[in-house]
Amino acid sequence: MRIALIGYGSVGQAFARLLERQRRRFPFRITAIQTRQRTAYDPHGLPLEPAWGPPVPVGEFLDRAAPEVVIEITSLNPVDGEPAISHIRAAFARGLPVITANKGPIAHAYSALRAEAAARHILFRFESTVMDGSPVFNLVRNNLPGVTIEGISGVLNSTTKVVLAEMAQGRSLAEGIARAQRMGIAEADPSYDIDGWDSAAKTAALANVLMDANVTPQSVQRTGIGAITPEAVRRAAAEGTVLALVSRVRREADGALTLTTQPERLARHDLLANVDGTSNVLLLHTDLMGTQGIVSVSPGVEQTAYGLFADLVDIAQQL
Ligand SMILES: NC(=O)c1ccc[n+]([C@@H]2O[C@H](COP(=O)([O-])OP(=O)(O)OC[C@H]3O[C@@H](n4cnc5c(N)ncnc54)[C@H](OP(=O)(O)O)[C@@H]3O)[C@@H](O)[C@H]2O)c1
Repeated sequence: MRIALIGYGSVGQAFARLLERQRRRFPFRITAIQTRQRTAYDPHGLPLEPAWGPPVPVGEFLDRAAPEVVIEITSLNPVDGEPAISHIRAAFARGLPVITANKGPIAHAYSALRAEAAARHILFRFESTVMDGSPVFNLVRNNLPGVTIEGISGVLNSTTKVVLAEMAQGRSLAEGIARAQRMGIAEADPSYDIDGWDSAAKTAALANVLMDANVTPQSVQRTGIGAITPEAVRRAAAEGTVLALVSRVRREADGALTLTTQPERLARHDLLANVDGTSNVLLLHTDLMGTQGIVSVSPGVEQTAYGLFADLVDIAQQL
């Protein structure tokens, strides 16, 4: 199966390494790559370090690449999800299935993209957009038939967890951010993490897909952790609570959704407070199956790459 990648940063390269390791079991090959600054093509399959040429407009790239599936893994734009949304539409316009790990399009334009894909009978998958490839969307689609998701709660951003843990040790916000950057988990612009934009984008994406909302990250009532002091974190701990940046989606009595991302003091025994380090936790509150939890233990880029791979296997089985 011929794959075109749009974006070849940490995730793209981890995905290419995963395909190399799985080559004997799965006949997938990356035959074209486009980044902001360069392109590469080889119908027989590109090496991990291809010979690069200059970039071209995305439509021209796809026409020359002639892939069977497109994987969109460019940088997150939490403000409006572009240009990733346009990349996905360029693939749809050519009848090509799309996989993305970029939450921007799911947080900003999911219902429109879903409708466009359905109208053209095109598969569209996005498992790695939330929880780094842990099964969330595929779990609900494949394993919870007939279930209605009534609410969502989660601690979804690793950087703020690391920063708050550093502050609990008496270090400053800036020192916490520097540690998250050394660990390679902070967004390129760490204010997206600290101000809650990354969590708000994940919250909007979850609500759009799982609760049929039609919201954007701007719909989320958002407070980041920038105003929290090390003293406040230590005081919370001394009082038997844990400060965390928590995302919630609630359906109100009138049917409207309330979406929040804000620091909360959680009881120490609260499940949301009990995943250490960079691990994330997501709880789905359902009508027929109570509350189901997903924990992603120390997630990294390899898990994100696996989420893309899982989507690819799913699509390959259906083509
Ligand atoms: N890293 C993770 O663990 C993780 C987890 C879940 C989801 N994600 C999401 O996955 C996506 C990729 O993450 P990453 O860590 O691989 O990012 P990254 O290392 O910053 O790489 C981003 C890639 O996108 C390319 N790019 C940016 N704008 C582009 C454009 N307009 N056209 C074509 N290519 C463009 C960049 O090209 P140049 O190199 O030429 O600038 C680069 O190759 C992001 O949306 C991120 O939020 C990441």
